Amino acid sequence: KKIVVFASGNGSNFQALLDAVHNGNLQAEVSLLVCDRPGAFVIDRAKNAAVPFFVFQPKEFLDKEEYESQILALLKEKKIEWIILAGYMRLIGQTLLQAYEGRIVNIHPSLLPAFPGKDAVGQALEAGVEQTGVTVHYVDAGMDTGEIIAQEVVEMIPDETSDSLQAKIQKVEHQLYPRVVKMLLDGKKEATSI
Ligand code: GRF
Repeated sequence: KKIVVFASGNGSNFQALLDAVHNGNLQAEVSLLVCDRPGAFVIDRAKNAAVPFFVFQPKEFLDKEEYESQILALLKEKKIEWIILAGYMRLIGQTLLQAYEGRIVNIHPSLLPAFPGKDAVGQALEAGVEQTGVTVHYVDAGMDTGEIIAQEVVEMIPDETSDSLQAKIQKVEHQLYPRVVKMLLDGKKEATSI
């Protein structure tokens, strides 16, 4: 099955998905990377893995509908079935939501509905909670509000720093996301085995 990954930054989750495909743990083809930030490191990762990429600057388009229509044409041309968001720092608009209803997922570094939006790691530290975690969810028009597919807890230690927590969360993300994507591509919606 063909998937596209949308990312804006480092792309370690994009890499984890590529590695899972390479290792035979995920039967998928990462057919395209979509990136809204020229210069993001994730583009280098795509080049190294010979994954086609579409990089755009939102400000060069009239509005979201205009750039999403262009992306949608590409996804159709490539017969892409699923949209996998991995650190894509924008809300998805109606153009893509309608075309890919129920086939867009995101990973977020907290136990949603706690700490949606930006800097979920910082928000968890600030709140002084004992546990945080990772959530994979379907994408709707809201910010990190779609139906939850899978969650994994990350315990916090008393002297937790932003760096140490970030590292623990990313480690969990890199395991969890390929597993959940595999489950979805296999047609299993409920995350009972996770
Ligand atoms: C991840 O923590 C993900 O949960 C969040 O953005 C971060 C992206 O990291 N949505 P990376 O670019 O995959 O390294």
